[in-house]
Amino acid sequence: MSRIITNYLLTLFLMSTIICGVLTGHADFLENLPPEIQPLYNSDLDTWKPPEHLKRNYPYYLSGFDEEDRPVWVLEFGKWNLRDIVEQGKDAVIEFDKYVNQVILNVYNSTITKHEIVPAIIILDLDEYELSQLTSPATVAYYVEKLRLIVIAMKNLHAAYCINTNFVAQRFLNLIKPLLGKEFEKFEIYGNNPAKWKSRILKTIPSDQLPSWYGGSSNFKPVMIYG
Ligand SMILES: *[C@@H]1O[C@H](CO)[C@@H](O)[C@H](O)[C@H]1NC(C)=O
Repeated sequence: MSRIITNYLLTLFLMSTIICGVLTGHADFLENLPPEIQPLYNSDLDTWKPPEHLKRNYPYYLSGFDEEDRPVWVLEFGKWNLRDIVEQGKDAVIEFDKYVNQVILNVYNSTITKHEIVPAIIILDLDEYELSQLTSPATVAYYVEKLRLIVIAMKNLHAAYCINTNFVAQRFLNLIKPLLGKEFEKFEIYGNNPAKWKSRILKTIPSDQLPSWYGGSSNFKPVMIYG
């Protein structure tokens, strides 16, 4: 008798799981978040307004979407002076940490749609990247620390186009390469010659989804500017 009840309950459970799964496809992806990403969702990061000085000095934005509807993000990482933060001390690092976590959350969350995971494309613009970022051990230690979370989030990365890579930025990429492991295969590295990377980028991203300086149209507007 109890076996019949158990079977009955089991069937009921399975049916409700299936029905809930169909109704809440989005929630499904959210339930299966990597455990390291989960805390980003259970925080105030979705509503937190970063201070102006961070938004000004550490720019990034959702540029648009490619032909497969993949979100295209631009990270003007060459301008990101992490050494400045690290040298300001603990409070600045705590605040900046929150900023970076919000970047990770925004990029990761853009890959989760109602019905599927749509991996992101990142344009990593390394223009203006300076050697001072690499000669500070504390700054390098900070890179390494944050990369652990970034590698996990990179599961939902389709490709990263690294552009304007000067020889200092190349050194930065060499530094992170072993830490990224096989995720580094998603990185395509281009130098300072726009003719080379523009044609590559425009092969997959429609020009109206990109700013003019990346070969996009002059009337382009990003979907959302975050930083
Ligand atoms: C994730 O994106 C959805 C829109 O697709 C939005 O409604 C939701 O607030 C975002 N979640 C977080 C935590 O940012």
